[in-house]
Amino acid sequence: MKRTKIIELLRGELVGQQVNVKGWVRTRRGNKAVAFIALNDGSTIHNLQVVADLANFSDELISKITTGAALSVDGQLVSSQGQGQSVEIQASQIEVLGTADPQTYPLQKKGHSLEFLREIAHLRPRTNTFGAIYRIRHQMSIAIHTYFHERGFIYFHAPIITGSDAEGAGQMFQVTTLPLEATPRLQDGSVDYGQDFFARPTSLTVSGQLEGEMAAMALGAIYTFGPTFRAENSNTARHLAEFWMIEPEVAFYDINDNMDLAEDFIKHCVRWALDHCWDDIQFLSEHFDKELIDRLRFVLEKPFKRMTYTEGIEVLEQAKAAGRKFEFPVYWGADLASEHERYLVEEHYQRPVIVTDYPKEIKSFYMKLNDDGKTVRGMDVLFPKIGEIIGGSEREADYEKLRLRAEEMGVPDKDIWWYLDSRRYGTAPHAGFGLGFERLLLFVTGMANIRDVIPFPRTPRNAEF
Ligand code: 4AD
Ligand code: MG
Repeated sequence: MKRTKIIELLRGELVGQQVNVKGWVRTRRGNKAVAFIALNDGSTIHNLQVVADLANFSDELISKITTGAALSVDGQLVSSQGQGQSVEIQASQIEVLGTADPQTYPLQKKGHSLEFLREIAHLRPRTNTFGAIYRIRHQMSIAIHTYFHERGFIYFHAPIITGSDAEGAGQMFQVTTLPLEATPRLQDGSVDYGQDFFARPTSLTVSGQLEGEMAAMALGAIYTFGPTFRAENSNTARHLAEFWMIEPEVAFYDINDNMDLAEDFIKHCVRWALDHCWDDIQFLSEHFDKELIDRLRFVLEKPFKRMTYTEGIEVLEQAKAAGRKFEFPVYWGADLASEHERYLVEEHYQRPVIVTDYPKEIKSFYMKLNDDGKTVRGMDVLFPKIGEIIGGSEREADYEKLRLRAEEMGVPDKDIWWYLDSRRYGTAPHAGFGLGFERLLLFVTGMANIRDVIPFPRTPRNAEF
């Protein structure tokens, strides 16, 4: 018999028919006469109840139906008498496809801690929580592609191995085939990269932006969506060493267009989550974050507050003067710490905030320099509970100014000559931004730790699975 997914069976349209369902046992309970098996196949957070009349099945078979086992069940779909489900399946045949030894299967009881589940990341997709998260992750990917596709953006694939440090921050993972134990050296003692695979130093990319800009200057509007890598040793609940980033880049956009795009885009994503992930979001809200749904709706309601960095510092200084304590210093020129960002969003304005025009020293070399010579046309979108969710800017379109900024920030000409070329040939104003996919997922799932919104998190000293 052809398998039907549980999400379809629960719609109830097949009541009365013979069906086949396949999935994994969540629980088995019952009495001397009958066993009730909660089966889940990943198509939905909801389980299907399988009712097995013990007169029809051997004790040996029933004993193998333990939490985690994989089953194939034939039977009639019927309206359920019991509470908690609308339909159930009256099993006529059960095949145990794979047993799960209850002595060793780690997911026995409900209510494992998220910390424990991280230690069994290979099995945590079997839990309701991670099933919900991975389905939402999928839906958010579709939301993103849909948004850009419908607006004529071209999905552009930036390379993962790169010879340039896009952010100029020097936090890259090196890619090499040279033997670490016996590195070939030149006469002056330096590494002989001529013998390396690419005959030059290379790394995993921190951002697809530089390549994305090349495409935007021909295709008009593009976006990348792929993995990016940062070897920053920040063991926080919002940093990963491997994360996914969405980077739109648009020719002829200035920073205001860029802000409009960022706000519209992220609202689209949040709306999509409410429209397409309702059951999963409700489950996560119930178990982890009672205010989740209110927070999602709240972001959709009001326009984001837009302000300059200088205004932001003033607000923070006033807060300090009024007695608000911050761990990190507040002064013009300092980078905003997460506590500052969250003060602006959660306490002062009580809505998402877009901060623009940062001091040039704390931002990347490619951001357009303002006429004041001190600030650049960068923008960060700050979200409740998250802090920075998007970082972007209008780009420096002037060849000489860009070359100078790269030099000042120590980005070598030999690495980015090709990037500079875009300002020599047909340069034009353009702008773009990067959305951290896992930060978006933190927001829409209500999870508190970024390790719980990516299947196999990479963080300092952690790449087991
Ligand atoms: O602000 P960032 O560093 O900006 C860029 O990479 C630009 N090239 C983007 C662009 O203009 N095209 O990173 C963008 C976003 C951040 O706002 C944050 O959401 C996320 O990427 N992000 C991280 N997410 C998880 N772990 C990390 N270590 C992250 N670093 C940045
Ligand atoms: Mg940033």
